[in-house]
Amino acid sequence: MPVPVDIAPARGKLGVLLVGLGAVSTTTIAGVLAIRKGFAKPIGSLTQMGTVRLGKRTEGRSPKISEIVPLATLDDLVFGAWDIFQDDSYAAARTAGVIEPSMLDKVRPELEQIRPWPAVFDQRYVKRLEGPNVKKGANKKVLADALGEDIRRFKAEHNLDRMVMVWCGSTEVFMTESAAHQTVESFERALEANDPAIPSSMVYAYAAIREGIPYANAAPNLSADIPALVELAARTKTPLAGKDLKTGQTLLKTILAPGLKARLLGVDGWYSTNILGNRDGEVLDDPESFKTKEESKKSVLDYIFQPQLYPDLYAHLCHVVRINYYPPRGDNKEGWDNIDLVGWLGYPMQIKVNFLCRDSILAAPIVLDVALFLDLAKRANMHGIQEWLSFYFKSPVHAPGLYPEHDLFIQLMKLKNTLRYLKGEELITHLGREYYD
Ligand SMILES: NC(=O)c1ccc[n+]([C@@H]2O[C@H](COP(=O)([O-])OP(=O)(O)OC[C@H]3O[C@@H](n4cnc5c(N)ncnc54)[C@H](O)[C@@H]3O)[C@@H](O)[C@H]2O)c1
Repeated sequence: MPVPVDIAPARGKLGVLLVGLGAVSTTTIAGVLAIRKGFAKPIGSLTQMGTVRLGKRTEGRSPKISEIVPLATLDDLVFGAWDIFQDDSYAAARTAGVIEPSMLDKVRPELEQIRPWPAVFDQRYVKRLEGPNVKKGANKKVLADALGEDIRRFKAEHNLDRMVMVWCGSTEVFMTESAAHQTVESFERALEANDPAIPSSMVYAYAAIREGIPYANAAPNLSADIPALVELAARTKTPLAGKDLKTGQTLLKTILAPGLKARLLGVDGWYSTNILGNRDGEVLDDPESFKTKEESKKSVLDYIFQPQLYPDLYAHLCHVVRINYYPPRGDNKEGWDNIDLVGWLGYPMQIKVNFLCRDSILAAPIVLDVALFLDLAKRANMHGIQEWLSFYFKSPVHAPGLYPEHDLFIQLMKLKNTLRYLKGEELITHLGREYYD
């Protein structure tokens, strides 16, 4: 019989440190406040609504996830944020334009209390933005220390027991791993030397991981996904998750593609285009930031289809992804997919998908879940990369030499089996022979 893992109780307040107070962050914060007051339901959140089957199908045991593992409750959450703009979270939510003003007004006093601390920001990494609320410091090490002060002050002011940090800042320009990213020591030297290989998101990640604060990256930029910060996380026993929230079009891709592959239907082409009019869309209009996003969005199909195993079905797949900045749409992104399928005897077919989604409405429950699950991981002494949270990300972080798992259904099974493992319950293989023996 498996044994439950020792998990420290979720006592006291949990501070949620959000980097960037834009559409995703304000939709998360205002949503949690509204749900807390009973004005809305936490739709889309596994931690709030999900269940997990335990034991055999005949046992009828499907408790809520929050009943089997000790999660912080919504009442325990206290939000803090950094942004390059000074708007408090009410004003920022009005600018983002995702949640109706009538709903925002119901939680306005609480939102107005969340005023962003000055950010660590350098326009070199996010070309389309410029703002006044930015820290000054002799080098990036000094800036990381200043973030540490913000964190300690926030903890003391709100008498917090624990904290987690989620990067909900803009997508930074495309970067790859370099020498400065290899060890903790080379990384710290690079911070002091103001090395351009260290973008702002890495400074935040370093400030969190150094303190043992779990860190997740909601955007596709490298951030904590480098050997130096993974090594630091091992030293400080810090859980990590990322990258790039799996919302709109990629969510649908990782729902559809595993189904097509399961039936061994070939795919010759997958053309995806989006129009988006929020600030994220504006940032992604810069080719260097778009490249980061494009890499993240494109890797999904290669891993799901495994063309090396199925060359007749997927070796010639032409996969194109476009995002066009179109201000009239705001956060209400519209995505079109054209999928060119191949069936029996090579006969072509097509699927057209037109998804009128709301980006941040899909993203907010993920930010909430990731924050709560990372806090759980920390209390369960699970540190380093949390592969069981791949479910939430377009480019799941993974150990070197392992390929990431993109199939949404395998990801969900992995997540729920991790919860069963924590609880000391039998893992579910779906073999099912026991019902017929
Ligand atoms: N909305 C989604 O569905 C979704 C899905 C996947 C990924 N993302 C990613 O999440 C991130 C946030 O998305 P959004 O729609 O909220 O964008 P947004 O532009 O509304 O908000 C980002 C905020 O981050 C701030 N910022 C940028 N650099 C910063 C820094 N160094 N320090 C502090 N603040 C900084 C900006 O000023 C802005 O207010 C983006 O990178 C986006 O690509 C969003």
